[in-house]
Amino acid sequence: MSLPKAELHLHIEGTLEPELAFELAARNGVTLPYADTDALREAYRFEDLQSFLDLYYELMAVLRTEQDFADLADAYLARAAAQGVRHAEIFFDPQAHTKRGLEIGTVVEGLWRALGRSEETHGVSTRLIMCFLRDDSAESALATLRAAEPYLDRITGVGLDSAEVGHPPVKFREVYERAAALGLRRVAHAGEEGPPEYITEALDVLGVERVDHGLRCLEDPALVERLVRERVPLTLCPLSNVRLRAVDTLAGHPLPAMLDAGLLCTVNSDDPAYFGGYAGDNFDAVRDTLGLGEDRLRELARNSFLASFLEDDEERRAR
Ligand code: ADE
Ligand code: ZN
Repeated sequence: MSLPKAELHLHIEGTLEPELAFELAARNGVTLPYADTDALREAYRFEDLQSFLDLYYELMAVLRTEQDFADLADAYLARAAAQGVRHAEIFFDPQAHTKRGLEIGTVVEGLWRALGRSEETHGVSTRLIMCFLRDDSAESALATLRAAEPYLDRITGVGLDSAEVGHPPVKFREVYERAAALGLRRVAHAGEEGPPEYITEALDVLGVERVDHGLRCLEDPALVERLVRERVPLTLCPLSNVRLRAVDTLAGHPLPAMLDAGLLCTVNSDDPAYFGGYAGDNFDAVRDTLGLGEDRLRELARNSFLASFLEDDEERRAR
């Protein structure tokens, strides 16, 4: 669907399509343990978040140079633009690359080659959000923030992703305090597989302005009431939820009930190369399967801009 929209929950590494993975593997002399793109696609059958993450991190081995990251981001921006995305707030996972021996600068500068000219080349404005891997240590997150300091003019905010259960937000209190002191915006994945308490903690301990996923808030009516009252945006990812089995079926996705409850929901793609669709495809899926009408789709598109960091940034600059 080409309705103008902002994408607020998108892992750039999750846009690595099999064709590009093989192209980069050949370019960099990396051998992938899959015969071809069909064999790789066959592996895209996930039981849960962890089974996806295993493949997601494995495939990152093909990303080695600044140009690789630029090509990855350019390919995403072209696809997103074709589906009506006008603004994208893009996650990246520096630790997944630095632990393979890359410099954080290779990642940021490479992505920036594409992002820095994206308004001209694709008509898409962008922001970059650096995510900490929650299954790595708090010390590693702190070291990552320190290593990112020379690049903070290119980074709008910080996020928290990877394996959720057993890694509560409170583990990252200090690094979020430092990020806030550095003027960075704050978001975090919470309530994808983890309990509603993680959502509350992300708000109260990490000071997040948006919650990524937030699906499990529905188990706590008082939390839902709070999220509605405080207008906390949730970046939902319907096709991801089906593929990672956070919901049983798309038809059973609680998005309509969440909108009816007054939650500020947005629809996003998460890791589109793995989950069967980009932002527009997610909009199409919720229209076709959940029967959302024109008003609801427009509300979702409007919410995506409201929940973005775009206007605040511009207001801040004007001040
Ligand atoms: N990293 C990439 N996609 C993710 C997701 N859906 N949840 C947590 N971490 C991720
Ligand atoms: Zn995500």
